[in-house]
Amino acid sequence: MSDPKPLVCDFVLRHARELLTMNGDDALGIVDGGALLARDGRIVWVGHDGDVGRAADDDAPVQIADDAIVVDAAGACVLPGFVDAHTHTVFAGSRADEYEERLQGRSYEEILAAGGGINRTVAATRDASPQTLADLTRRRLDAFVRHGTTTVEIKSGYGLDLESERRILAAAAVAHPVRRVLTFLGAHFVPEEFDDRADEFIDLVCEEMLPALRGVAEFVDVFCDVGAFTVEQSRRVLVRGSELGYATKIHADELARSGGAMLAAEVGCVSADHLVHATWEEITALKQAGVVAVALPGTSFSLGGGYAPARDFIDAGLTLALATDFNPGTSYCENMQMAIALACQQMRLTVAEALRAATSGGAAALGRAHELGSLAPGKACDLIVLAAETHAELPYHFGVNLVDGVVIGGRPIVVDGLPWRREADE
Ligand code: NIG
Ligand code: FE
Repeated sequence: MSDPKPLVCDFVLRHARELLTMNGDDALGIVDGGALLARDGRIVWVGHDGDVGRAADDDAPVQIADDAIVVDAAGACVLPGFVDAHTHTVFAGSRADEYEERLQGRSYEEILAAGGGINRTVAATRDASPQTLADLTRRRLDAFVRHGTTTVEIKSGYGLDLESERRILAAAAVAHPVRRVLTFLGAHFVPEEFDDRADEFIDLVCEEMLPALRGVAEFVDVFCDVGAFTVEQSRRVLVRGSELGYATKIHADELARSGGAMLAAEVGCVSADHLVHATWEEITALKQAGVVAVALPGTSFSLGGGYAPARDFIDAGLTLALATDFNPGTSYCENMQMAIALACQQMRLTVAEALRAATSGGAAALGRAHELGSLAPGKACDLIVLAAETHAELPYHFGVNLVDGVVIGGRPIVVDGLPWRREADE
């Protein structure tokens, strides 16, 4: 019998002081003195640096190609890239003035009712050209990746008519190395032209928009809250979306108790997001239905309000994801490190819980746990090298960017804190 053909790797990462694999049910799966080999963007081998020369995949020996990309972590901490499972990245205009007003005591709901808020962003976004939306999105994705995010979920929802929603989803898919998962959030808000006719707008979402955007977006989401949509209206969107083959998500219990968490359990959503006002009964229902809880501490910080009971989510055995909720109204922040710091301080998560929620938890909230959010053979080679020796620095050394290097699909995208060569991506 001839010897098995060696598997030739085109990527090698060496000398990680801590390599956080996120393997195992609740631990970080740390390899001290770690190394990792990949081929064609997929991980082939993870182990101790001293074993690189003896690496093998099943029965085949693993070799490193002469021209392989070599990343020397030089004693730093390495972990999977962050998976930001909840963002509203595509919009035009700014609401900095509203934030300033909120700092003076005006509430988000008051601003919304006075014609500010989401509808203001809708007007600016409808006016923006496809090129402008694509440019804005690309720049924001640059910011996400510089801060260590390798996969971004992007919701539409600032168009609220079919063509504008389609333009937003097209901009969300702009050429860029960051992985994207797209979500249709047509039921984000009742647009001005449907004032007092929310049910008719829901008809439009269900009968026109959802069928037309099938295949463009993978998920459908709905804002189930006071001032947005009721449980009945939200149920219609999610049920129709499911019939059409969309996976489902819901903005639930963000501003008030909305009944959204129970609806998520009833419909079998992949995730229920926000959950600031979720009760123990609702948490139990989410657990039974296998719904991932997505906590968005940046939103609570920015609204100056309460935080989701994420400690209870974990204690109840829910899978938890942390995300930024990047949007112009309630969380203008692309940085998952900020979400981690807030979750540790304000939601009483351990560092390990927060890091899992920011990586493998995010992947679960996108139905991608099989390929993203952890470092193991067969998974995507998406990782970050910190400017720190240990993961404990992440919440501790807050307010600065601790990401030194980013690799997506086995390709260095950020090196020494600086972006990649742009020509290669266009
Ligand atoms: O997640 N809740 C709905 N959507 C955003 C806010 C959008 C906005 O204010 O523009 C959120 O908080
Ligand atoms: Fe949101």
